[in-house]
Amino acid sequence: MYFESIIGYKSIKLELSRILDQLIYPQKYAALGVTEPHGLLLHGAPGVGKSTLANCFVESCNRKVYICRKDKSNGDFVDEIVRIFDEAEKNAPSVILLDDLDKFANEDERHRDTEEFVTVQSCIDKVKNKQVFVVATANNLKKLPDSLIRAGRFDSVLFLRCPEGKDAEDIVAFYLSKKSFVSDMDVKQISRLLQGRSCAELETVVNQAGVYAAFDGRDQVEMRDMIKAILRIIFKAPESFEEDARALPLVACHEAGHALVAELLEPGSVNLVTALNHDSFAAGMASIHRDEFYFYSKEMMETRVMYLLAGKAATEICYGVVDTGANSDLSRAFDIVHRFVDDYCSYGFNKFVFSSSPSDEVLDRRDSRVATEMENYYNKVRRLLVENRAKLDEITKRLIEEKTLLGNQVQEILKCS
Ligand SMILES: Nc1ncnc2c1ncn2[C@@H]1O[C@H](COP(=O)(O)OP(=O)(O)O)[C@@H](O)[C@H]1O
Ligand SMILES: [Mg+2]
Repeated sequence: MYFESIIGYKSIKLELSRILDQLIYPQKYAALGVTEPHGLLLHGAPGVGKSTLANCFVESCNRKVYICRKDKSNGDFVDEIVRIFDEAEKNAPSVILLDDLDKFANEDERHRDTEEFVTVQSCIDKVKNKQVFVVATANNLKKLPDSLIRAGRFDSVLFLRCPEGKDAEDIVAFYLSKKSFVSDMDVKQISRLLQGRSCAELETVVNQAGVYAAFDGRDQVEMRDMIKAILRIIFKAPESFEEDARALPLVACHEAGHALVAELLEPGSVNLVTALNHDSFAAGMASIHRDEFYFYSKEMMETRVMYLLAGKAATEICYGVVDTGANSDLSRAFDIVHRFVDDYCSYGFNKFVFSSSPSDEVLDRRDSRVATEMENYYNKVRRLLVENRAKLDEITKRLIEEKTLLGNQVQEILKCS
């Protein structure tokens, strides 16, 4: 089995293993008439593990390895590319790793035929069928010319997404295992908070938690260190929090509304709720677990819309004032409802805007239906919160005291109130 040192990424590893097998045991494939593979391109967001996988691949294929990364000025770099391909051809069977291929040229997306890419392309063509396998990594495929990535040059183009579910858990557990940590560390909870994040971010968070523990003079990493690191690194919360005594109760109430409705409609879905400031929102945040198929059903979209409206509804029920911190919640909710009214024709076909210059009548019909649906959802959320007012108050109170609550703490509060 190949790639034993790589955690997760089961299906990508399987595909890569098959290619690797062809390079290591060419006779087996030639006997069946299979032609030799030429190249492989791994792409995906920064930090997902492309270079790690690519390095592991080239090291495992029992060939002489040539690595090419942009570290020279443009003219010298083009010469370097040619030199590396020549060497690799001379010493075939060999493998070349073009790491961060999209950074080989410093051009924007509209000027993709730069000298570097033209050179790489002609070098790849020159070594074709000469037992030189080319592995490339890239963050952004759009920066590469289509001709360069067409089949024949790179037989496989594989997309790496951020680790999810069990993969994310295993990666967090792996980084934790290099540190000393308390026995009741909730790895599942931590990895849920880190959903959609890259391996590099997972690694940085666990490490930062270690820094917090050591700085405090403790010899074990605790859950609170992990939460602090997640808030700081992932949600960009400030290092220290200046408490705004007037805003805090409103922010806490707004976030408690989100958390309560999420738990009532989808028990177990809250990851974390905080009344602390953080980067992308003015104040407070509720992180909700969402699986991949979230928007696939109307029922799920309704849950999401009600969750989004819950912050505004809670503040308005408890304080009787207009919630001025619900802008982004509202635009996200409108966006979802709009999609169901218009794009998916969930409320009939006469609200679908198909022409580029639709009549005012169609637009009015669509927009007024969106507004009516929003109104309905808002009223539903209000009723739900009024019925569960004691629970709302309790979560708010605890948020004011503790600033941040984890999903399981919210669930505990709901059980007891
Ligand atoms: N499967 C994995 N499990 C654990 N850590 C990983 C994994 N893949 C990558 N990493 C770590 O994540 C960081 C970023 O990986 P890297 O390969 O440089 O990403 P990319 O090339 O996609 O930007 C590295 O520190 C690497 O060790
Ligand atoms: Mg890389």
